[in-house]
Amino acid sequence: MLPTKVSIFEVGARDGLQNEVPVTTADKIMLITQLADAGVKRIEAGSFVSPKWVPQMADSDAVLQQLKRQAGVVYSALTPNLKGFELALAAGADEVAIFGAASESFSQKNINCSIDESIERFVPLMEAAKQHGVAVRGYVSCVLGCPYEGDIAVSDVARVSEILYKMGCYEISLGDTIGVGTPTKARQMLDAVAKVVPIDKLALHFHDTYGQALANILACLDTGISVFDTSVAGLGGCPYAKGASGNLATEDLVYMLHGMGIDTGIDLTKLALAGDNISRVLGRTNGSKVANAIRT
Ligand code: HMG
Ligand code: MG
Repeated sequence: MLPTKVSIFEVGARDGLQNEVPVTTADKIMLITQLADAGVKRIEAGSFVSPKWVPQMADSDAVLQQLKRQAGVVYSALTPNLKGFELALAAGADEVAIFGAASESFSQKNINCSIDESIERFVPLMEAAKQHGVAVRGYVSCVLGCPYEGDIAVSDVARVSEILYKMGCYEISLGDTIGVGTPTKARQMLDAVAKVVPIDKLALHFHDTYGQALANILACLDTGISVFDTSVAGLGGCPYAKGASGNLATEDLVYMLHGMGIDTGIDLTKLALAGDNISRVLGRTNGSKVANAIRT
């Protein structure tokens, strides 16, 4: 059965802007504010990683501290280790996300350690989060392929997802980091993970590099999954996955879901304006087909 309502987890201000030319703190706050105005309830606002690795996210503390919070909106941040957690907490992040990978090579390139070492680093973070009552989301990258290793076994995806879930992550987001997945493979991967993590604790995070993300989501939509990570205007990519383009554009998913009678709580016109505005700041064309089509 198809869901009647889905939750959009907007990653444009993090996954998007981490891989675009740097923008000012004020422009990030403008984007996040306009997303909230459009009805987006879950917004990844920044990332507490090494500023040497990802300089675009170096002002995440200022973003979180200066933005005017809207009631009912959760502002989250990416945190690779305890240091990142402490910084995110000090900046006032409502929740945080740890990020691991199903591919050893990607783990090394992205966070400079093996999969098992990354799990060890997450342990003190999870303990600190528990102490402070902060919810932790978990990402698994390369669930449908790796830029260095190619195909990834679904058993590897399921293994890492289960570990993160059992560590206490309230939701596991399955990342097709380089957007290589196709519908049958996406569905098989999700079915395998859903055997070890409840489907209502899973989210799909599909980059749209090969233009497959909407089709992949559609192929998974009757499993009971109802959380999707997307990026307004299709911003971004991943600095450690060469050739990765942005996430699926939020506007494109919202348009498809609304057309299918599925509620997102989002005002598409306002959302598209938010995407247009940040695209203008970046000096790039809006990466959402829907936003370009509905512009008047
Ligand atoms: P490392 O070099 O192994 O760590 O990096 P370290 O502990 O040896 O620290 C080295 C330096 O980084 C030290 O500073 C630390 O203080 C500093 P120095 O002494 O050289 O001046 N440091 C930090 N600074 C700020 N915040 C921190 C922090 N931790 C250490 N939290 C580390 C390990 C994870 C930090 C590094 O590899 C890193 O920052 N990687 C960035 C990875 C990243 O942001 N990737 C993109 C996001 S993931 C993604 O996009 C995928 C996703 O969207 C899902 C999908 O699409 O698949 C989530
Ligand atoms: Mg991503």
